[in-house]
Amino acid sequence: MKILILWDIFGRTGRRMVEENIDALRTKYSPDFMIANSENITGGKWPIEKHVLLMKDLGFDILTGGNHVFSNLKSSGDVFSSPNSIQIRPANYLEHPNYPIPGNGWKIVEKNGQRLLVINLMSSVFMYDHLDNPFQYIDKFLSDITEKYDAVIVDFHRETTAELVNMAYFLDGRAAFVYGTHTHAQTNDERIFPKGTGMITDLGMTGPLWSSIGHTFESRLPQFLTGTKLFGPKAEQVVGEWILTGVFVEIQAGKCFYIEKIRIQE
Ligand SMILES: [Fe+2]
Repeated sequence: MKILILWDIFGRTGRRMVEENIDALRTKYSPDFMIANSENITGGKWPIEKHVLLMKDLGFDILTGGNHVFSNLKSSGDVFSSPNSIQIRPANYLEHPNYPIPGNGWKIVEKNGQRLLVINLMSSVFMYDHLDNPFQYIDKFLSDITEKYDAVIVDFHRETTAELVNMAYFLDGRAAFVYGTHTHAQTNDERIFPKGTGMITDLGMTGPLWSSIGHTFESRLPQFLTGTKLFGPKAEQVVGEWILTGVFVEIQAGKCFYIEKIRIQE
């Protein structure tokens, strides 16, 4: 099973980079499944339906999310309500019968007789949302699930590196690949644990290179100089030189045996 994963498609620059490079990537890697994270795909924030459908048309099977995924739910159309949508969101929100969380936190995609389970987790550490413990959540989820699958991929949206490597260790032998998103910096620590779980702490970003995680430095620097968000213009997207990052992994019998980082720069 060959899987191509691209991370954080940021705004219009990120979308254009995917459109311009996806054919070459597909030719080079012949992936069975393609995954991306879309929490910043629309103007650097939430995913709207048009952009989710664009990614589906380009051949992506699943889009994961993160802390921005519900930033503008009113504009998201059927992204979270349609059973055919390829968009998922973090699975471990606190569920309450009176306040159902839109969308699903996991999905199984079947192609050529192979069933891939993708689940999106999120951490509460240094993040705004208060969530169910992601370690205990995935442990129970994998114990309880009755659907059949051939491999598990985990997008763990988190701030700290320690959480990611501990999650990969925790899931060794149960997940094929565990990767981190949210920090937007591709790390150089890809590895395969003894029982076959591959990992990388962060996949990086597909979007404008000379930017503060996609936004202009002018709009972000004042908050680091002053410790407040009082100053600087409204965050704007940067258009210009770009970078595309991701990973290609190969899996057999639910275990990872090959990891290749992808980094293409204009
Ligand atoms: Fe995030």
